[in-house]
Amino acid sequence: MITCPSVRKDVIRDHYDVGTLFYRLFWGSHIHHGYWEADESPAVAQDQLTDRLADLAGVESKTALLDVGCGMGASSRRLASLRRCHATGVTISRVQRRWATTVARLRGLSRQTTFLCADAETISFPAASFDTVWSIECTEHLFNKPRFFQRAAGWLKPGGRLAICAWLAGDNLDESRRQQVYDVCEGFFCPSLGTRADYEQWISESGLVVEHSEDWTARVMQTWEICSRRIHRYSLHRLAGLVRPSQLIFLDRFDTILNAYRSGAMQYGCFIARKPLA
Ligand SMILES: C[S@@+](CC[C@H](N)C(=O)[O-])C[C@H]1O[C@@H](n2cnc3c(N)ncnc32)[C@H](O)[C@@H]1O
Repeated sequence: MITCPSVRKDVIRDHYDVGTLFYRLFWGSHIHHGYWEADESPAVAQDQLTDRLADLAGVESKTALLDVGCGMGASSRRLASLRRCHATGVTISRVQRRWATTVARLRGLSRQTTFLCADAETISFPAASFDTVWSIECTEHLFNKPRFFQRAAGWLKPGGRLAICAWLAGDNLDESRRQQVYDVCEGFFCPSLGTRADYEQWISESGLVVEHSEDWTARVMQTWEICSRRIHRYSLHRLAGLVRPSQLIFLDRFDTILNAYRSGAMQYGCFIARKPLA
């Protein structure tokens, strides 16, 4: 695991309160990578990532799903409308909670979705209350990842599944690759990035059985080629500087993350784990 001790939780919250509009305008309604099979548009690729994770996790009608770090609620809405599940989304950002709730209402999905503004590291739910605990690209922001998996395992019903997509640190990194990962953590407000082995260990130690541990790096990398082109084309630096100059750092690290994927300093991982029945 590579850590970046300077990251603070209030800065993460601020980043999503301020940055959500930018993500929506310049990327789409999901704040996650696209998953490319061929030359699909970014919007289709983003949906494909959600759908692929949902297929692996077996999300279906009547699934009670907890979406940890739900962003603007796009995955929750998609799963609620296409798979008829009930999604409870949690985000640390008040702006995102309001956004997610409003869009769900406009799309007629209020009864199948609930959005909460809370810290996933402190929120509590009754034991065994969800069939699926789902998180796309949020665990990177958590300070105590092993503890989160322990708690998530408790929220799952026996037989339920954990479904995670996460940015990972690569294995056996030399000094310059470690620096690449550190720069990504600093630029994108991640207190740490775990390796694939770290995630597998944390998940297993929480009592869950890992069913899939997949490397999606090659499928998702072009996200950052597209984002890099877009920030230059739309002069995003100038726009973001008008709102909050301290938020500019992540715009400067788009090439850093792309280079980190290319050098093997980072990977993109998908994990599915099941809670044993007994
Ligand atoms: C990269 S975005 C991913 C959003 C969403 N999962 C998606 O795929 O569109 C990270 C999300 O994690 C949320 N987040 C970060 N730290 C959190 C915490 N401690 N508790 C709850 N949500 C958190 C952010 O508010 C944001 O919604």
